[in-house]
Amino acid sequence: SGCNSESRGALVVLEGLDRSGKTSQSSRLLTYLEGLGHSVELWRFPDRSTNVGQMISSYLSNKSQLDDHTIHLLFSANRWEKRSLMETKLKTGTTLIVDRYSYSGVAFSSAKGLGDEWCKAPEIGLLAPDLVLYLDIQPEKAAERGGYGDEKYEQLEFQRKVAQCYQVLHDASWKIVDACQPIEDIEKQLQELVLECVMACQKGKPLANLWS
Ligand code: TYD
Repeated sequence: SGCNSESRGALVVLEGLDRSGKTSQSSRLLTYLEGLGHSVELWRFPDRSTNVGQMISSYLSNKSQLDDHTIHLLFSANRWEKRSLMETKLKTGTTLIVDRYSYSGVAFSSAKGLGDEWCKAPEIGLLAPDLVLYLDIQPEKAAERGGYGDEKYEQLEFQRKVAQCYQVLHDASWKIVDACQPIEDIEKQLQELVLECVMACQKGKPLANLWS
């Protein structure tokens, strides 16, 4: 499959509002790349399995209260505690499909009113994704899908603000995919984009740090 020891894996991030379909598309991508014989893992942030992740989880389920800055830094710390493992995996040829990353960090916190630059600062030096797949859906459409849980941010009014905050984060690594298409159409588009990215990384596209 061309996965020789010299080639690195790709860092692919899925972003979007709650109920945009990120999670099911992430697992479809995993199955797809595995099927092609690639070494690939599915990750997600927040990673609730760590101590920091448990603090985040308790905050999201309204079991604890934290100042907006404090929870922002915990989300960031939760990515930092995974940075070296992430780098090792990528350098040894494993592609990572990551459900939410620094862009969620900035979009959700700036939607609460924290400054963009302040929100970005603790993310500087984390690994930059090779590809960000943004599953684009109007907040009203996402809400219609139902299944908003009881967690902190799962409210239409707040999701509207998050959608606006995501807008200013788009950069060259972003591909915007219409999340209202049939699931299989979205899946096909994501497969093409990811495959192209995986190939570019195999061919030596260098790893970079945020924000670049
Ligand atoms: P997630 O576990 O993906 O949500 P779900 O329970 O729907 O699967 O993320 C939980 C919430 O945390 C989600 O509303 C987005 C928010 N979030 C931040 O505010 N900052 C961050 O850095 C991340 C990764 C997520």
